[in-house]
Amino acid sequence: MTKSKELRSRFFARSPYFSYLPDRDRYILSLDQSRHKFNVIGTGMNGQEHIRITLLEGRATIHGIFDPNPSSVERARQVYAQYAPQASLVVYDSLEQACHDPEVDGLIVCTPNYTHYEIVKTAISSGKHILLEKPMATTVQDAYEINGLARQYEATFQVGLQYRYKSIYVEAIYEALERKSIGNIKTISILEHRIPFMDKVNQWNKFSKYSGGTLVEKCCHYFDLFNLFAQARPVSVFATGSRAVNFLDFAYGDEKSDIIDIALVTVIYENGIRASFNLCMFAPMFYEELVLCGDEGRLKASENRDFLPEPRPKTHLEIMCGEKRPSRTTTPAYPAFLEEAGHSGSTYFEHVNFVDNIEGQETNSATAEEGFWSIVVGVAAEESIKTGRLVNINELLDENGIKF
Ligand SMILES: NC(=O)c1ccc[n+]([C@@H]2O[C@H](COP(=O)([O-])OP(=O)(O)OC[C@H]3O[C@@H](n4cnc5c(N)ncnc54)[C@H](O)[C@@H]3O)[C@@H](O)[C@H]2O)c1
Repeated sequence: MTKSKELRSRFFARSPYFSYLPDRDRYILSLDQSRHKFNVIGTGMNGQEHIRITLLEGRATIHGIFDPNPSSVERARQVYAQYAPQASLVVYDSLEQACHDPEVDGLIVCTPNYTHYEIVKTAISSGKHILLEKPMATTVQDAYEINGLARQYEATFQVGLQYRYKSIYVEAIYEALERKSIGNIKTISILEHRIPFMDKVNQWNKFSKYSGGTLVEKCCHYFDLFNLFAQARPVSVFATGSRAVNFLDFAYGDEKSDIIDIALVTVIYENGIRASFNLCMFAPMFYEELVLCGDEGRLKASENRDFLPEPRPKTHLEIMCGEKRPSRTTTPAYPAFLEEAGHSGSTYFEHVNFVDNIEGQETNSATAEEGFWSIVVGVAAEESIKTGRLVNINELLDENGIKF
């Protein structure tokens, strides 16, 4: 029985209430036949999210995993068994085996940032579709080389900058860039206030040499949004920031943590747009806010999780157009089970787009080039904090022998 796209109803289709239904009687409640098989490389927090969401999305399944940490493998098995109780998961002994298994047509790379460059080189030699987690690399040079490899790659190469699929940003992109509801954008401002970085396997995210630094590791998401809204290349970056509260006495082995937890970053774009970013990583919440000022209006969007008990909308979007056209406020959201699957539903839509890309449909998923530019801004901001100087992007690229 085939069903049209608009009848998808994954929530009810997976419900135990309907488990008595024979397959022949499932129409509205049928699930897509999985047509692709993916291997997941690195099954820590993010790899487990990718396993869960691949199985939830349904057009692909997970065939196998590779991770040198036994407890990450064990946890991945548990997550997999929850969603695919009848199937078995292959556990590979090496990266090469995981990348070159002919059973599989896609690879999801979600290992610590400093490993991406080497892993991508092996992954790309397989010719399989690749979803590479953000940040693509920890340095401008490595990101540039990955971009070069991805440009010539015939299969899908997608970067995990999935915040663009959070409901507030989907709506903001539509309003500001497609509908032009606020006219020409002049300034972009993003604020992220959140809890400190979580513990990780080998605590790689507490050290700039492994993560690229806070402004590369986490904030590449927001610099990707800056670049998207500006629709132009960054010209210069000035930033100030410090290690104010978190991990001041943290050491792992003999190494002391060196990551910052507050920052103010200003980016100037070649079309004159000014962007500013405000980071605080010791707030008791996850809060992010976007403000766009255009010559015909102002857009503000926010997402908040502060763990307080009162039921309040998690999101807010307002478009104020004065006397030009109607203004409005909304609370964008996806169905709860998609939002709860990870990153406010954005990872689910990242997977929808990954499979769409594999199947030859046009999408707006993040390309390697967009991944590269998000890292350029992050690296420039880290550099500006260290030197106290404005970083000229052309000079930064020149220093790295890069011509764009
Ligand atoms: N897109 C997003 O919103 C998002 C969110 C969280 C993490 N991430 C990214 O996902 C990646 C992983 O982050 P995490 O939070 O899952 O970290 P984690 O420490 O929880 O998990 C990383 C896993 O990779 C394994 N690993 C390390 N080296 C490996 C190698 N060479 N080959 C195979 N596995 C290896 C570790 O054993 C660990 O299980 C990072 O690049 C991170 O930036 C992205």
